Amino acid sequence: MKDMKFTILNGSPKGAESVTMQYVLYIKKRHPEHEYNIINIAQAIKKIENDEKRFEDIILQVKESDGVIWGFPLYVMLVCSQYKRFIELITERNAKAAFENKYTIVLSTSIHFYDHTAQNYMQSICDDLKMKYVGNYPADSWDLLYPKRRARWLLFVEEFINHIEHKYPTSKHYAPLKMRDFKYTPGKVIEVSEKFDTLGKKILVVSDETNENTNIGKMIKRFAESFSSEIEIINLYDIDVKGGCISCLQCGYDHKCSYIGKDGFFEFWEDVVMTADILVFAGVIKDRYLSSRWKMVLDRAFYMTHTPTLTGMQMGYLISGPVNQIPNLSQMFQAHIEIQDSNFVDIITDEFGTSEDIDALLHDFARKLVTFSKADYFKPITFLGEGGKKIFRDDIFGRNRFVFLADHEYYEKHGFYDSFPQNDERAKKMNEKLIPLMKIDKLRTKINMKQEFLRPFTKILEDPNK
Ligand SMILES: Cc1cc2nc3c(=O)[nH]c(=O)nc-3n(C[C@H](O)[C@H](O)[C@H](O)COP(=O)(O)O)c2cc1C
Repeated sequence: MKDMKFTILNGSPKGAESVTMQYVLYIKKRHPEHEYNIINIAQAIKKIENDEKRFEDIILQVKESDGVIWGFPLYVMLVCSQYKRFIELITERNAKAAFENKYTIVLSTSIHFYDHTAQNYMQSICDDLKMKYVGNYPADSWDLLYPKRRARWLLFVEEFINHIEHKYPTSKHYAPLKMRDFKYTPGKVIEVSEKFDTLGKKILVVSDETNENTNIGKMIKRFAESFSSEIEIINLYDIDVKGGCISCLQCGYDHKCSYIGKDGFFEFWEDVVMTADILVFAGVIKDRYLSSRWKMVLDRAFYMTHTPTLTGMQMGYLISGPVNQIPNLSQMFQAHIEIQDSNFVDIITDEFGTSEDIDALLHDFARKLVTFSKADYFKPITFLGEGGKKIFRDDIFGRNRFVFLADHEYYEKHGFYDSFPQNDERAKKMNEKLIPLMKIDKLRTKINMKQEFLRPFTKILEDPNK
């Protein structure tokens, strides 16, 4: 086996202190014959962005390597904003060619909360960069501490090395996005009688683009015109955010971020966003997600760690770009709202139909938001919210309680742990009674399970008062 040169693009804002990088150092220890060049991308993003030479050096190293390893911690269902910015720079600075045909793998560490969406995103980026994508490794943060799990990580990387050595083929999973060349032109003015009463509700649109010459700017304006009184519109570039989350985890103890007093993020999040009744996030698709500016805001909101902050709202999205070609992104949109205990209403885009169709959709979106808000309607959450919340609950109750004590207190106070199945008294009693009966063959074979399931429903349907 010839010695190889690997470029590792470190997506952790902690730089060398990253847990994820310990996985790379372990490979280095087991295969010291290769060269490992770890570049701290996320930690140094400002310098990389401001110093073109530094960016070009990184691209040169990618070009000269036999394989590229993307390694990153999960940040709010994706990579962190700093890493996302680097990915944007690759296209903005015409550096894609360096990645073409490079063998690559993607390593993430996390608690497995939406690691699949981050991995899907990275795989699509690798496909967009025309890389030879060998596979991903979605490790739990602590996997390396267990012998069997270390062994499988090693096997995975050895398979990667085999791929490069033997030039094995790799498959593609994501077709390039088809961008629609369409100029949205809002139609006739909405009559006063057609406008919706805001019913004293606070309606807020947060966007990274509000320029009225853009499709999204026009969509926001048209949407706002559907209401009888003014709504609030905030541009994310007008708020004072000094930088992305740096994962110091000071917030874990008391939900107090180390940026307090250094920028205006908290005033924005707590006084403006958290006080809305109806909240619409708007933006333009950038690669396979929203912009890194949007991601920075979502990452910074992590100072409230695993507690919901946007609760009880009617929420939705206004998007310019091919969101329906990126189901991974729609899934993140929906999951984010469900986990916050808010109601996911809709995503309105400019990707289909005429301007008139979009006008109608925007107007109806406004109607739905106020109608649902008035009726206090919350549709049932799906696996996206249900599964995600359970992962948080278990992790905060268990191994990560000492890190996130503020969450633990919140979870205790708000009954989050009551949902543990071992606390379900009704289920316990039912099982105690029924399991011994189920073990009697003669009885079990006589039971009509379909009818048994329907028995409580029949009671509801036959009761005239229910
Ligand atoms: C701002 C922030 C957001 C996070 N979001 C997620 C997440 O969405 N899913 C998850 O499983 N873990 C999440 N984590 C946990 C980290 O991904 C995990 O601790 C990781 O192993 C840290 O790696 P590092 O030391 O290399 O930075 C988050 C951590 C931080 C600080």
